[in-house]
Amino acid sequence: MKKLKIGIIGVGRLGYEHACNIANRVPGSELVAICDGNFARAKEVAEELGVTAVYSDPKEMCANPEVEAVAIVTNTASHVEMIQIAMDAGKHVFCEKPLADTVEKCKEAEKIIESHPELIFMLGFMRRYDHSYQVAKQKMENGDIGDVILVRCYSQDPISIIQGTLEYAPRSGGQFIDMSIHDIDLIRWLTGSEPKKLWAIGGCFEFKQYKDWDDGDNVSCLMQCENDAMAFFFAGRAAAHGSHVETEIVGTRGTLRIAGVPASSMVEVMSEHGVCRECYQDFVTRWHDAYITEMEEFCDCVAKGRQGSPNVYDGTASTNIAFRCKESFLKNELLTLE
Ligand SMILES: NC(=O)c1ccc[n+]([C@@H]2O[C@H](COP(=O)([O-])OP(=O)(O)OC[C@H]3O[C@@H](n4cnc5c(N)ncnc54)[C@H](O)[C@@H]3O)[C@@H](O)[C@H]2O)c1
Repeated sequence: MKKLKIGIIGVGRLGYEHACNIANRVPGSELVAICDGNFARAKEVAEELGVTAVYSDPKEMCANPEVEAVAIVTNTASHVEMIQIAMDAGKHVFCEKPLADTVEKCKEAEKIIESHPELIFMLGFMRRYDHSYQVAKQKMENGDIGDVILVRCYSQDPISIIQGTLEYAPRSGGQFIDMSIHDIDLIRWLTGSEPKKLWAIGGCFEFKQYKDWDDGDNVSCLMQCENDAMAFFFAGRAAAHGSHVETEIVGTRGTLRIAGVPASSMVEVMSEHGVCRECYQDFVTRWHDAYITEMEEFCDCVAKGRQGSPNVYDGTASTNIAFRCKESFLKNELLTLE
C-alpha cells in the first residue's frame, strides 16, 4: 500500500496523539515532517518518532516537496491561516475541530478550499468515527428506531485533569466553541437537520474564573431543529467521576444510548464501597481508536480522490451554531438561527 506522506503542524496535547497515530498506528500514513512554533517541542517529538524534517515555520514545512498532506492541530485561531498556507503549497489538509474561532474565518476557509478542488479536505470531528457512534448511525439508517424525536448529549471533562483544563481555557475559545461543538456536530449529524431555535444557559458553579472569559464552567442548551426534532446538550469541565461523553437518541420506535456509563474497561470492582466501574480520565484515552479511524479515512479519501466528511461547510455550520449558543448564554435569551 502506498503510504500518504503527512507533515503535522502543532504537536501539543492532541497533536502529539495524531503524530503518534500517523507515524505508528495508521497503516496508510507516514509521518515525514513536524512543525511547532515551540521548536523545542517539535524537536522532542521528532526525536521520539524518528522524524528528521523539523520546523518552527509552517510555510517552510509546506515548501518541503516530500510532504503530500498536512495535519493541522494548532490552536483554533490559527486553523484558517494554516489551511491557506498548506493548500497554497498544494497539500491535502486534515484540520482539527473547530474550523475557526469566528464565522467570518470559516467563510474564508470555504473560499480557500473551493479554489482548490483538486485537494482533499477533512475536518476532525472524530466522534463520527467512534465505533459506537458508527453502529448507532447505521441502526438509525436501517430505520431501527424510526424517526428521531430527541438527541440528548452530555460532555464533561474530569476534575482529575482540572489544572490542565484551566491552563487551556483562555486559548480554548470557550465551552460552546471548544467542547459543545462536538455535540452540536453530533446533533446535526444524528438528526439530519439544522437547529432553528436555541436557548443556552449555564454559570460558574465551581470555577468562578470562567466568568473572566465570558464563559461558564457548566453550560447547557435546548434546541428545536428544522424537522422539529428536539436536542439538548450539557457541557461541564469538572465531573467528579471522569471523562463523560454520553449520547441518547430517542426515536418513534426505539432509543439508542451510547456510553451511559463512561467505563474505561469491562471490569467491575467489588469492595466495601459496593460495585464500581472505573471511568476514562482523559479525552485522548476515550477517543484513541476514533482518532486512528478518522486518520485512516483521511488517507483513504486522498488515495481515492474523494472529499472528506465532515467537510468545510459542516465546520461553518457548527461554528455558527456554537456562537449563537454563546450569544444566547450571554443574553439569557431564546434565539433563532438565520
Ligand atoms: N477532536 C478533539 O477531541 C480535540 C481535543 C483537543 C483539542 N482539539 C483541537 O486541537 C487543536 C489543538 O488543541 P491542543 O489541545 O492540542 O492545543 P495545545 O495548545 O496543547 O497545542 C497546540 C500546539 O500548536 C502549536 N502552535 C500554535 N500556533 C502555531 C503556529 N502558528 N505554528 C506552529 N505551531 C503552532 C503550539 O506551540 C502548541 O504546541 C485545537 O483546535 C483544539 O480545538 C480537538
